[in-house]
Amino acid sequence: MGQLDGKIAVVTGAGSGIGLAIAERFGAEGAEVVLVGRQKERLDEAAARIGGGARGVSVDVGEEEQVRQLIQDLPRVDILCTCAGKAVFGRVDETPPSAWKDLFHARFFGQLYAVHYAVPKMPEGSSILLCSGIADAAYVPDYCGGAAIAGAVNAMAKNLAVELAPRSIRVNALSPGFIIGTDIKFNLEGEKAIEFVKRSIADTPLPYHGHPEDLADAALFLATCNFVTGQVIEVDGGWTAT
Ligand SMILES: NC(=O)c1ccc[n+]([C@@H]2O[C@H](COP(=O)([O-])OP(=O)(O)OC[C@H]3O[C@@H](n4cnc5c(N)ncnc54)[C@H](OP(=O)(O)O)[C@@H]3O)[C@@H](O)[C@H]2O)c1
Repeated sequence: MGQLDGKIAVVTGAGSGIGLAIAERFGAEGAEVVLVGRQKERLDEAAARIGGGARGVSVDVGEEEQVRQLIQDLPRVDILCTCAGKAVFGRVDETPPSAWKDLFHARFFGQLYAVHYAVPKMPEGSSILLCSGIADAAYVPDYCGGAAIAGAVNAMAKNLAVELAPRSIRVNALSPGFIIGTDIKFNLEGEKAIEFVKRSIADTPLPYHGHPEDLADAALFLATCNFVTGQVIEVDGGWTAT
């Protein structure tokens, strides 16, 4: 028997990386997984591998109407896990504010839209897992907009945890450190990209890398531990402890 038997789990950003690992873990634990992203083909391939009624749905999470439609078509949502996103780096005086605005739109509002439409369909005992990042709690160079998003997502998780507690809906945030083996898109190239990777490894006390499966471990814990809400779980090899 799986820990998530009979649950419907919606996972955004499930075409690759952290979202995919979480979708696979939830599916392996018996959940019926709805994999959300923009590239339908790879969502369908993953859904076929996962089985158990898993299916891929093509949605741009930054488009409110698409998110509304996604949720409307579901009978209920037991677990909502919002991992869709990318990263944008740049010095504050060199980066057009529109770059941060676009990032905020998909990575913050993408999660807010999903919560907004899913909550009315979430029964008692449901769980929301937002995805932020350690830039809220540790300095990441040239990343003021990403840090702001991480902080906003964490604040939203804590606030919603209290708001939704009377309805027995739990809300937590997954906060990844430097995680390898994902397809994450960011705007660093050449030397700058190498420097970023070197620095991120140096900032991580544990002498090995984080992988999407580490986030899947944390996600399953948060999805199943009935008395944990309002927490930000740093899956970061100790980065934020330094
Ligand atoms: N990897 C890290 O070290 C790290 C650290 C801190 C935070 N994070 C955050 O963790 C989350 C997952 O990242 P990851 O590393 O697993 O990267 P990833 O492999 O690129 O996964 C992100 C997924 O989000 C989907 N996506 C992006 N924009 C979307 C949109 N507007 N609508 C729907 N789907 C969208 C992408 O698929 P499509 O292109 O097919 O839509 C992709 O599958 C992201 O929010 C990222 O910022 C990652």
